[in-house]
Amino acid sequence: MSDVNENPQQPAEGQPRRTIRSFVMRAGRMTEGQQRGVEKGWPLFGLSLEQGQLDLDAVFGRQAPRTLEIGFGMGHSLLEMAQAAPEQDFIGIEVHRPGVGALLNGLLNNGLSNVRVYDCDAIEVLNRAIPDASLDRVLLFFPDPWHKKKHHKRRIVQPAFAELVRRKLKVGGVLHMATDWAHYAEHMLEVMNAASGYRNQAADGTYIPRPDERPITKFEKRGERLGHGVWDLKFERVEQG
Ligand SMILES: C[S@@+](CC[C@H](N)C(=O)[O-])C[C@H]1O[C@@H](n2cnc3c(N)ncnc32)[C@H](O)[C@@H]1O
Repeated sequence: MSDVNENPQQPAEGQPRRTIRSFVMRAGRMTEGQQRGVEKGWPLFGLSLEQGQLDLDAVFGRQAPRTLEIGFGMGHSLLEMAQAAPEQDFIGIEVHRPGVGALLNGLLNNGLSNVRVYDCDAIEVLNRAIPDASLDRVLLFFPDPWHKKKHHKRRIVQPAFAELVRRKLKVGGVLHMATDWAHYAEHMLEVMNAASGYRNQAADGTYIPRPDERPITKFEKRGERLGHGVWDLKFERVEQG
């Protein structure tokens, strides 16, 4: 696994200040299953930035529709989607180590071979490893809302993010986002409506009804319990011009 700076917002003295990130590394002990996932699963499914730009057909040994999930948490959705669609390929990215271990363990337990995993910043992965126009779907489910105003700059959905994802999607490919924070949903809509090269798939130009293909996660259940809504947004890459 890669060597992630445990405190990326506080560079060592004399080092240049690092860019703002959408996550903080959380400490977390791994369960036995998660450790097993890393030990046995990482050599099979782990990818690293050192590999540079990927040849996805070579990585998966086939041509197939490709989905990339940013911030898969404990990997429940990714596992469910990969199980339900063995004819498709999935790339998951998550900085939280126990989550990476949990997903890897799930892949081993279920005999899946259509998922590959990065354990580092998704922005770096998109910039450095994913070829342009190579993805059918990019998923961003329940990203950290960074609800305090002074932290809004840490939200992953920003104009530069929209442009980066657009480049990585095939024409006709879709960015699917979901959140249970009303203000983040509005922010996503504002950023995406201002981004060029996308078409909002919502009939009324706002949110789409909950799509069946998105598995229910604990964040959604929590949201329901707290009486929050959940907002889904789907934006399709279109030809620019
Ligand atoms: C609120 S959790 C949601 C997890 C999962 N998508 C779900 O619905 O259960 C957001 C996750 O995104 C991860 N994350 C945030 N920014 C990231 C980034 N730039 N690269 C990779 N993972 C990131 C965090 O570590 C965290 O696990």
